[in-house]
This record gives sequence, C-alpha cells and structure tokens, in this order.
Amino acid sequence: MKRSQWGSRLGFILASAGSAVGLGAIWKFPYMAGAQGGAAFILVYLAIAFTLGLGLMAAEMALGRAGRGGIVETFRRLGGRAWALGGLLAVIAGFLILSFYSVVGGWTLAYLVATVAGTSLTQDPGSLGARFESFVADGARVVTYHAAFMALTVLVVGAGVQKGIERLSKWLMPTLFVLMLVLIARALTLPGASAGVEYLFRPDWSSFSTSTLLEATGFVFFSLSLGMGAMITYGSYLDGRAPLASSATWVVFLAVGTALLGGLMVLPAVFAFGMDPAAGPGLSFITMPAVFAQMPAGELFATLFFLSLTVAALTSSVSLLEVVAAAVAEALGIGHRAAAWMSAAAIFAAGIPCALSFGAMRSYTVFGLTAFDLFDAISSKLLLPLGGMLVAVLAGWVAWSRVAAQLAPSGAAWLPAARLVIAVIAPLSVLVILLHGL
Ligand code: PHE
Repeated sequence: MKRSQWGSRLGFILASAGSAVGLGAIWKFPYMAGAQGGAAFILVYLAIAFTLGLGLMAAEMALGRAGRGGIVETFRRLGGRAWALGGLLAVIAGFLILSFYSVVGGWTLAYLVATVAGTSLTQDPGSLGARFESFVADGARVVTYHAAFMALTVLVVGAGVQKGIERLSKWLMPTLFVLMLVLIARALTLPGASAGVEYLFRPDWSSFSTSTLLEATGFVFFSLSLGMGAMITYGSYLDGRAPLASSATWVVFLAVGTALLGGLMVLPAVFAFGMDPAAGPGLSFITMPAVFAQMPAGELFATLFFLSLTVAALTSSVSLLEVVAAAVAEALGIGHRAAAWMSAAAIFAAGIPCALSFGAMRSYTVFGLTAFDLFDAISSKLLLPLGGMLVAVLAGWVAWSRVAAQLAPSGAAWLPAARLVIAVIAPLSVLVILLHGL
C-alpha cells in the first residue's frame, strides 16, 4: 500500500501544532501556572520547552521520517528487534491517554452544548461547582459525551492523513487562534485585569522549588505531545525535502505561544472578578463560567471559550488515535480506516471506567486512584517520560547518524549542541523525573 503523506509542509506544521496545543494549553496550563505561583513556573517551563522540548521534538520528527512506519515498526527498523517493545509502550501510552482525554473532551462538548442552550451560566461559583460535580457524576451523560467525542475523533482519523487530520488542522488551528485572540481582548479590557497579567509575567521566585521544576518538565512532555510517538508518526508522513529543524522550532513556538495565550485568556479574567487562580482542574468548568456570567455578552464569550477548548482537544485526540491506529494497521496488516475504528472502539471501552470515575465507580480504586487518575498518572508520570528516554537514546545514540542526516542533510553548526541535548541532557533529566515520580 502507498504510504500517506501530508499535502504541504504548512499542513504538517499545523497538524503537529494541533497535536501539541490541546487541553494542556487551555485547561491545564492556566491552573498549573495558577497553582505554582505564576511567572516563575512559566519561565521554567519556557526554558525547558526550548531546550529539552525542542531537542526531543526534532528527534521524534527525524526518527519518524527516517523510519517511515508506525511507531512499533519505526522503532524496530531503526533500533532492532528489541526496540519494538519500546514502540509498544508508546502505543499503550497513547491508548491510555486517549481513554481519559476523551472523557474531558466530552465534558467540554457538553459544556459547549449547555452554553449554546443558555443553561450553563450563573454568577455563583458555589452552585457552578455543585453543577459541575453533579454533571461529572452523571454516568449516562458523561459516557454519551465521551462516545460523541470519540466518534468525532475517529471520523477525522478514518478520513485519512491528508483528507482528515490535515484538513481539520488547517481549518481549526487558525480558528482557534482567532477565538483565543477575541477572548484575550475581552479579558484584558476588564477592569482589574492587570493583576492577572502581572501574576503571569512578574516572577515570584519565593514560590520556586524542585517540585516546580519537576511539574514543569512533566508538563513540557504533555503539552508538546512528546514521549508517545505522536511526532514520530506525524513525521513519518513527511516527504524528504521539508526542512525538519525549522518545522520543529515552529511547532514548539506555536505550542508554547498558545499556552501563554491560554494563560492570558483565563487568568486576567479570574483576577478581575476576584476568583482563586489556584482553583485547580475546575478553573475552566467552574471559575470561568462564573466569570462569564458577570461579563456583558457573557453567553457569547462562554460559547467561544468552550468552542476553543473543544477544538483544541479534538486536534490533539486525533493525533493520539492516529498513533494507535497506524501501529494497529501495520501489526494486523489491515487498512487504516478499519484500524482506526477498531482502536477507537477499544479506547472508548477503556474510557468508560474513566468516565464513571467521578460517579458510579468513584470507590473502585487501585493504589487509591480511580481509573481516571490512574490512567493519567501511569501515562504522564511513567510512560511519557519513559518514552522520552527511549526516544532520546534511540535518536542520540543508536541511530544518531540517520537522525543527523534528517535534521541537517549538509551539516550545521548547531548539530553538536542538538546532540548534547538529545543524547545526554534529555536522558539524564528524564531519569530524575522518573525516579522522583516513583
Ligand atoms: N499535547 C496534548 C495537550 O496538550 C496532549 C497530548 C499528549 C497529545 C500526548 C498527544 C500526545 O492537550
């Protein structure tokens, strides 16, 4: 079978940025920055994203284009038989992440529907909190929205790399950007917004600790979609001529930029209305609706906000499914579309316990964690860093000459620095996170 390819380099960059920009940037980043003391966390995140993150991003794209296969096949081709196991690990990570990611994607979809229907806003965060809690505990509704979100994802992935993923990203990424700018313009013109801006950009180093460093590193992996083969799989659809190093730089730049925009969209409004920036995961679903309820034309801005969240989540979930589907298609020798539907069905099923983790299955725990928290913890604390370590060793040591040839076909002055990051700094820092996480 002829291997799929991106239609253009821009399509590849937007699809990769679409994978990176997701719930991480808009849902997680504002509350993490809020909880970790604002600017200090952000500066650390920026520094790690443009060193470790950029190095691994380039390494993944290069491995993908050199291997030209699904993640398991690519690892086997470039590293030898035993490396196929590493690829398998990445597939499992993608599977687990999408199982709970799709549940949160379903929440955003449900809030979008409720906002359009005009039923999501009231001024009182207490009742909004109660409403959020009763919604996430309502098994039938959350499973239905989880199914709807998975269905959207598989429709895009099933349509193929160029007609599905690339086309979606080319429409949705610019749309997302415009939506966010509108919301930021609104947020920044609220009286009292400047306290939020200050919080984002004036570092308070007294709140800095090793945990800031670890949290920021873990978030670099999650927010740049590193360590589970997303960029390897996307890179495998790239033709031989497109320059890689600059593409990787663009994707990191867009992803980090969007996270900052996510912060600018949420935190100034939170400060302007005197809410708590450290409210945690409820910030998007409880605090923001309270903020919108107090704004003129709040319904409109709330709709735009939940639309942005859904759009961002969808361009990421398609990359998660694509990694699994491409590997399954190759392993079973079946077509891409069939593999996408099979994988999606299995992921939907695995997501059901995650969807029920806040209601019916709240008390079914392993190590004290519900299915939702367990899947999140295993993938973000264990599998992504482990995957990042394998990518770094494969790219930096085992297959360096092929990676270097992909990154700079006629050599470049920065290659030794890139190798230092990929081969030495990345494995060492990941080791520290892994040990700490355990
Ligand atoms: N980067 C995505 C986000 O920030 C999540 C993701 C992680 C997607 C790993 C693919 C792979 O929402």
